[in-house]
Amino acid sequence: MNPKYHLALKTAFASEYAFALKAQNYHWNVEGASFPQLHMLFEKIYQEVYGSIDTFAEELRALQLYTPASLQKFSMLTVVEDENEESLPERNMVEELLQDSEKMANIFKMVFGMSEEAGDHGLSDFLAGRQDAHKKHSWMLRSTLK
Ligand SMILES: [Fe+2]
Repeated sequence: MNPKYHLALKTAFASEYAFALKAQNYHWNVEGASFPQLHMLFEKIYQEVYGSIDTFAEELRALQLYTPASLQKFSMLTVVEDENEESLPERNMVEELLQDSEKMANIFKMVFGMSEEAGDHGLSDFLAGRQDAHKKHSWMLRSTLK
């Protein structure tokens, strides 16, 4: 049992869920000249991330951890902050999600190190994939800001 490792995994999970919700929030609420492109880009991102959530939850269960699964637990654990502003300018949405995506890539990089140390190679493989997915989301968001 390694409490630091297990808390890091739960934090990564809650943050990933919060990230997906934020991307979906922006998909719904984006306004402006780039609406069609950003509406689609945010959709592509939240769908990719949600698509990984169930596997992530079951990886935690396989380690005999309970999966955080309530809004209250997510908000206690997440390092990705909630978006409460409903009419954020479109550029700010992209900047904000880019920062969060980079944050997620770093979290996965850090937790990957811990899972390798624990010899959880299957989980490491999943975490490496999540780091890579966030690098790609970051690339697309960053390119939109040029
Ligand atoms: Fe939609």
